[in-house]
Amino acid sequence: MKFFIDTANLDQIREAQALGILDGVTTNPSLMAKEGITGEAKILKHYVDICDIVDGDVSAEVISTDYEGMIKEGEALAALHPQIVVKIPMIKDGVKACKYFSDKGIKTNVTLVFSAGQALLAAKAGATYMSPFVGRLDDISTDGLGLIAEIRLIYDNYGFDTQILAASVRNTMHIMNCAKIGSDVMTGPLSAIEGLLKHPLTDSGLAQFLKDYQKGN
Ligand code: G3P
Repeated sequence: MKFFIDTANLDQIREAQALGILDGVTTNPSLMAKEGITGEAKILKHYVDICDIVDGDVSAEVISTDYEGMIKEGEALAALHPQIVVKIPMIKDGVKACKYFSDKGIKTNVTLVFSAGQALLAAKAGATYMSPFVGRLDDISTDGLGLIAEIRLIYDNYGFDTQILAASVRNTMHIMNCAKIGSDVMTGPLSAIEGLLKHPLTDSGLAQFLKDYQKGN
């Protein structure tokens, strides 16, 4: 299972990279704005800064909602750095743009997926990654993890290569449940990833080992 971090915060990206378990980064315009990264030039530079920190794929989102605009923007994003994955919204022109990029060998991440039907279309269009939003479905009392399971079944039925990228992952249990279901990738905050480290018996066991070591010194 690949671990992506869902942030535009360079310090958190560096911290996750230093842990040695990071496979990539996802961002979106809201995450960029949260870090005060606004305006085209600053945003493009920020993508390159992120690519310089991590080894894996970095999703960069197009803002256009029409086919021609997405192609122009996506090609410019892909030219920025070999690690860039063009992130495209799940709308009609987005599906067409996804097919265009996949035919050209440019990696894509189809985002804002909330149904299995949308996931099927993304796979048919040759998406590299397809991002169902787990947390946002939970927010409206719909089973986000259930959607991941449904998509896993459909993709396995037909051997689609598109990777399920569980997005809007908010906590450690989301990560563990995505792993059980067989999501190819998850993207979430550093806090959710670090939550995997924690167990009270690890802490008390270590404290006891250190205490006992001191007895002999
Ligand atoms: O990866 C998608 C993500 O950025 C959305 O997360 O927590 O805003 O629903 P959230």
